[in-house]
Amino acid sequence: MCGIVGYVGQEPALPILLEGLRRLEYRGYDSAGVAVLVDGQPHVVKAVGRIAQLEERLSGGEASAIRSGTGATVGIGHTRWATHGRPSDTNSHPHTDCTGRFVVIHNGIIENYLQLREVLTAHGHVFRSETDTEVIPHLLEAYYQGDLVEAVRKVASQLHGAYALAVLCRDEPDRIVAVRLASPVVIGLGQGENFLASDIPALLPYTRRVLVLNDGEMAVLTRDRVQILTLQGGPVEREPMEVTWDAARAEKGGYAHFMLKEIHEQPQALRDTLRGRLSPDGRRVTLPEVGLTPEEVRRLRKVALVACGTASHAGLVGRYLIERLAGIPVEWDVASEYRYRDPMLGPDSLFVAISQSGETADTLAALREARAKGAKVLAIVNVVGSSIAREADWALHTWAGPEIAVASTKAYTTQLVAVTLLAVWLGQAAGRLDEDGAARILAALRDLPAQAEQVLAQEAEVQRVASDLARHDDVFFIGRGLDYAVALEGQLKLKEISYIHAEAYPAGELKHGTLALITKGVPVVALSTQPALAPKTLSNIQEVRARGAAVIAVALEGDEQVPRHADTVFTIPRTDPLVAPALAVIPLQLLAYYAAVLRGHDVDRPRNLAKSVTVE
Ligand code: F6R
Repeated sequence: MCGIVGYVGQEPALPILLEGLRRLEYRGYDSAGVAVLVDGQPHVVKAVGRIAQLEERLSGGEASAIRSGTGATVGIGHTRWATHGRPSDTNSHPHTDCTGRFVVIHNGIIENYLQLREVLTAHGHVFRSETDTEVIPHLLEAYYQGDLVEAVRKVASQLHGAYALAVLCRDEPDRIVAVRLASPVVIGLGQGENFLASDIPALLPYTRRVLVLNDGEMAVLTRDRVQILTLQGGPVEREPMEVTWDAARAEKGGYAHFMLKEIHEQPQALRDTLRGRLSPDGRRVTLPEVGLTPEEVRRLRKVALVACGTASHAGLVGRYLIERLAGIPVEWDVASEYRYRDPMLGPDSLFVAISQSGETADTLAALREARAKGAKVLAIVNVVGSSIAREADWALHTWAGPEIAVASTKAYTTQLVAVTLLAVWLGQAAGRLDEDGAARILAALRDLPAQAEQVLAQEAEVQRVASDLARHDDVFFIGRGLDYAVALEGQLKLKEISYIHAEAYPAGELKHGTLALITKGVPVVALSTQPALAPKTLSNIQEVRARGAAVIAVALEGDEQVPRHADTVFTIPRTDPLVAPALAVIPLQLLAYYAAVLRGHDVDRPRNLAKSVTVE
């Protein structure tokens, strides 16, 4: 997720672009850049870091022409959330071609950029950055024959993946051309000026009349006109809409909190994490970023999954999956404990660190310990260029985009997808999982984003249940197998934002002590999404019910038993049991969210907690 802005009008472009970027900084803050046409000539300034670093660079001599504003009334800007290539000045957007005629900003991922880059390089194009984006200005250079719209259309037909693009051309200095495929573009309409942005907050200081581009559409912006076209060239008629949100709410996409927005972003984040990683026939996983050979996989004696908090809960799911699918013994540890037990690792071990931020001190220290012992090191990480991503041998990125709320939601479900892909990949490389077996799991993964949307549709019911839950001081979560891993995540979500005491237990373990705490009215959240374990879990549900517990269950659609023994049931669509955790957790995230809201807490910034924990 990156942020893009554009302006074509009569005012100096730079302050408008910078204000837009400040309002989109929540979409990425690895680097920022602007390109302004000064008397038709593109001037590009970019800087690694936040917008403030860009502004500092813009105050220098090289930017005086842009700053003066005279004849500098058309421009584009970008704030980057790194995907391909670490955060650096060179990898920052905008990107240009060899001739400097085209300037491009991009939000999204170009999946086939390596193939395109190879072809372009063979034709003499010289690349400066490590980004996927840079192929676009080079393709424009190759296709341009005096008509920017036509060239952009041809280029778009070559790109696979997701993109929101904005393009400037030295030879057509009065226009910006934008295209959308699976990444947002909103056009703002003014008087003698027009704007574009990834999201509405960037437009609000200037206009409330907006047009939203749909997938497969392009927009041509000049001072006096905005033309929307399909990628096939046909005109599109669209009525502008009037935005009524205030700026703060608009930044959260209309949601009251970032956490709720991020919960709702999960279908898209799951899609992005899967993109390009399933073979076209759906029978293999493609993970070129993991450099282990099949021979090395077959020689692995152990996999160690190490992480903190929510990421460690994704690791526990990974443990079940890797043992089941790849037949390799897996150790699962919380990173803060790992080093102190002098773990046994060597060259035939694969150490996997899981981290959203890539900066968690304990996880980083565990990774260094693993390296020192000679293990091969893989990071499952959301932030490109983070310490954990850099220090690992290989990084398997989750494409959740920036997660702003302290309580992790979309990062967790994308970590679940990443560990599932890894387990299938290891299983296939180890020769333990045949293509039919893989195809069943991969089909379930493919359906996951749409099924996540179905689960989200139960939000109103979850909210109703949360209003009751919010009155309690203790809540228990139970489950078996993968459901226990999800129970751990459910209890952490609830306690960290609602401050309700919550504990998760393997459902069969309650009777060894904790059952003493189950009395009349105590809420017990019971997960039963694993058909093989369902009869056993049902007995445990009956056990707590017999002691008066109020049972809130998460079960599979069509389950006839659980509803008979629970007070409330949230359902998830039927799927492969190994993929169920990513669906089962969604009602628990919503439950925690609404309980916290009802208790009046600062949901996005819970007390005593920080988003990135860089101390031990
Ligand atoms: C809880 C939460 C934390 C993090 C943990 C690890 O909602 O977000 O438990 O999961 O601090 O952080 P990362 O994944 O950045 O290493």
